[in-house]
Amino acid sequence: MTYNFDIETNKKGTHSIKWEFLFENGRPTYGDHADPKHGSARILPLWVADMDFRCAPPIIEALQKRAEQGVFGYCYPGDSYFEAVIDWIARRYGWQIERDWIVLTPGIVPGINMLVQSLLQPGDKVLVQRPVYHPFFSAVENNGCELVSNSLIYENGRYQMDFDDLAQKAADPALKMAILCSPHNPVGRVWTAEELRRFGEICLDNDVLVVSDEIHCDLIYAGNKFTSFATISERFAQNSIICTAPSKTFNIAGLKTSNIIIIDEALRTKFAKGILRNGLMGANTFGVVATEAAYRHGEPWLEAVMAYIEDNFRFMSEYIAENLPQLHIVQPEGTYLVWVDCSALNLDPDSRKKLLMQEAHVFLNEGKTFGVEGENFERINLACPRSILAEALERMRTAVDALQITSSP
Ligand SMILES: Cc1ncc(COP(=O)(O)O)c(C=O)c1O
Repeated sequence: MTYNFDIETNKKGTHSIKWEFLFENGRPTYGDHADPKHGSARILPLWVADMDFRCAPPIIEALQKRAEQGVFGYCYPGDSYFEAVIDWIARRYGWQIERDWIVLTPGIVPGINMLVQSLLQPGDKVLVQRPVYHPFFSAVENNGCELVSNSLIYENGRYQMDFDDLAQKAADPALKMAILCSPHNPVGRVWTAEELRRFGEICLDNDVLVVSDEIHCDLIYAGNKFTSFATISERFAQNSIICTAPSKTFNIAGLKTSNIIIIDEALRTKFAKGILRNGLMGANTFGVVATEAAYRHGEPWLEAVMAYIEDNFRFMSEYIAENLPQLHIVQPEGTYLVWVDCSALNLDPDSRKKLLMQEAHVFLNEGKTFGVEGENFERINLACPRSILAEALERMRTAVDALQITSSP
C-alpha cells in the first residue's frame, strides 16, 4: 500500500492543540490562526510532538468498526490487547515481557507523575538530563520532590552523557530515581547499548531506580539502533520501569493509552495502589482498540512515515545549509523532532520568539522550556507535509534576512 504524506489533512474543528490553539498569558487560547484564509499570515505550527499525517488506515478502520457498535461504557483491555503489546515489544526490541508486568495509564506523563507520587517521598531527589522533555520537571516538582540535572554535554555539535557528573550526583543518598529519555527528546540521541550500560551501572551502584521513557523508540533513523534499557541485563530490567506507548509512533496521543512495564512486583503493587489513589480504573475504549490495531497492522505505515520524515530531514538540512547558514542542526538519530542551535543569530530567546512568531509566523518550541541549557535552541517538528516545511523554512529565511539588513551598520 502507498500512503500520501504530502496531503494537508483538514484539522479544522478538531480542537488540535498543535493547530488550533496558541498559548497566550500561559493559557491555551482557541483560535483559527492556522486557517489558510489568513494566507501568509497563518501561523505554521511546527511545535508540539503530533504528526500532521492522517492516521494509519488499519487504526481508522478498527475505530470505525468499534464506533459502529455504539457501546462506549467502561472497558478493560482483554487478552488480545496484551498479546499485541507483548508481540510488538518482543518482535521489535527483542524483549519478552509478561502480561502481569504491564500497567496501563492514560499517557506517559500521568504515568511518570504517579510513579513519583507512589514510589518516592517528598524531598527525595530525581535526576533528569537537561535539556529534556519539560513535563519531567513538573512531574518531580509538583509532587514534592527535588529536581537534579545531570545535564548533557554539547560538544562539536553533538550531545553526550556526562558520566562523571552522574556518578557524583548518584552518590547522594537522597537521589532515588533517574528519568532517562530514550531516545532523547529534544536532542534526538538514540543512546547506544554502551552508553545505557554505563548509565545503568552507576544507577545500580547507588540504588537509584531508572524510569526509562521510551515513547519515541519506534522513530529511529536508518543506521541507528534502539536498545531498550531493560534488555541490557536482567539486573537492569529489575532496576527499571519502562514507559512505552503507541502515541508518538502512530500519532494517536489524543487516545491517551500507554503501557508502563514494571518487573519488580513490590514496585508494581505500590504503583498500582498509586493509580487507584488517583481514582483511575480501566482504560480508554478507543485507545485500546487503536493500540491493538496499530501494533498488529500498523508497521507498513510506520516504515513509510519514517522514510518520509527522513526525506523531510534531508530537505531541511539542504535548505538550511544553503539559505540559513546561521542555524546549526543537531543531527537527529531518532524522533521526528530536530534540535536547532540558533546561537549565531545573536538573539535572546524572547527576541527570537518574536521574530519567529510575529515576522515569520512560524510556531516552534522554544529551547529554554527544556531547561536553561536549551536557551539558544529551537525545536522543529518534521512530521508534516513537505510543502508546510518548505513554506516555514522560506518564511524563516525571509525573516532572518530582513533582520540582518536592519541590524547591519
Ligand atoms: C519523551 C516524551 N514523553 C512523554 C510524552 C507524552 O506522553 P503522553 O502523551 O503519553 O503523556 C512526550 C510527548 O511529546 C515525550 O516526548
